[in-house]
Amino acid sequence: MRSSPRVDDPLGGCDTVAAPDHTPSRKKTMTTAPYELRPLTVPASVDAPDAADFLAMVDVRNEIYREISDNDDEAATAAQLLPHFQENPDNDKRSWIVIVGDDVVGRVIVDIPAEAGSQVAYWIIELLERVQGRGIGSELLGVVEDTARKAGRTVLESWAEHPEPHPGAPTERLAAPTGFGTIPLDRPARYYRRHGHTLEQVDRKSILEIEPSLSTVTAMQAEALVHAAGYRVEQWTLPVPDRYRESFAWAKSRMSTDAPAAGLEVDEEVWDLERLGRHEARYLEAGQTVLVTAAVHEASGQVVAFNELCSGADPTATSQQMDTLVLREHRGHRLGQLIKCAGILRWREIAPQSPRIITWNAEENRPMLSINEAIGFAPAAYIGAWKKVFG
Ligand SMILES: CC(C)(COP(=O)(O)OP(=O)(O)OC[C@H]1O[C@@H](n2cnc3c(N)ncnc32)[C@H](O)[C@@H]1OP(=O)(O)O)[C@@H](O)C(=O)NCCC(=O)NCCS
Repeated sequence: MRSSPRVDDPLGGCDTVAAPDHTPSRKKTMTTAPYELRPLTVPASVDAPDAADFLAMVDVRNEIYREISDNDDEAATAAQLLPHFQENPDNDKRSWIVIVGDDVVGRVIVDIPAEAGSQVAYWIIELLERVQGRGIGSELLGVVEDTARKAGRTVLESWAEHPEPHPGAPTERLAAPTGFGTIPLDRPARYYRRHGHTLEQVDRKSILEIEPSLSTVTAMQAEALVHAAGYRVEQWTLPVPDRYRESFAWAKSRMSTDAPAAGLEVDEEVWDLERLGRHEARYLEAGQTVLVTAAVHEASGQVVAFNELCSGADPTATSQQMDTLVLREHRGHRLGQLIKCAGILRWREIAPQSPRIITWNAEENRPMLSINEAIGFAPAAYIGAWKKVFG
């Protein structure tokens, strides 16, 4: 599946919308605590004089993810995230920071994709634990809905990690309508349901400890090669070499149509060479390394499968598996296994200090999960994909 919205913050862009007034909420017993919602200033660079709010947003993001996951696997630097927030033609991203007292305690992002005919707005509301349970998150949903409505969108979609409860905590669970995967009925799940959002899909977050997996990965690569006659593996770090730009851009566009989407609304993305260039620039400007491992169809010279690995906040951080895809018409040749294994082995040389790789897959995506499990990826958490349709 595609990389998590949570990790690389692909919800891009920025804008300003008036903060809601902080009138008491509807129920007498439920009064929203005072807070400020400030449109996020997106600076030209991380050392620009107006970068303070952006840096605070990145800090609070990392702290919230540490609270949820109990580790820094998804930590990002300001330099890494900045290009994803700067204005671009692919999406219109509106972001705010939430302030209580003098502290930035959360953030809100609404992302309006630019795809023609799109009905969707992607969003996140994330608050530190210490300000949860005061009605702030519920009130902020009004801002999300207003922003989406004004942009002409009728479908809200959002992803949240639902960590496993501590021993002794209630264990009621919610099943995905796909029949694959469950999540704990925790605060975010109750929040989504209370506000009319439905669980559409469960994704599995998995972690691979690289070093112990290497002998298995080497053997699995050799096994896959036997079944992959007519294809060759090509690898590069971004930018994409000229001879593959066209077919790689096409393969990227197929992520939006060929990955399992359950009941989610997914726009078909158009990837021309300009969009590919913008995608590359976001990672290169941030100083990140992205390794692409592609399977090339010998007869046509086209990229027909690819896998992307990306460096984390520093050389010793957890690496991220981004998109992996085998085009439908080229499935059945073990290309998924081949490119995954070839990617991990090359990544070991490129990022030898990175101990782990993190990846996300739809729980119903058995072919991909089977490869990952055989390689040694272990489940770390489950992610709910939530949707609300409104008029
Ligand atoms: C999910 C999230 C956004 C909710 O925000 P929040 O501000 O805690 O939401 P609310 O305060 O409106 O509701 C949370 C709880 O407080 C209760 N509550 C709200 N106002 C209250 C008040 N004034 N007095 C007492 N209780 C109150 C609600 O009934 C609710 O109870 P529950 O957890 O038992 O269901 C927040 O918990 C969060 O940031 N979680 C991590 C990120 C995440 O999962 N985001 C999901 C959306 S992308």
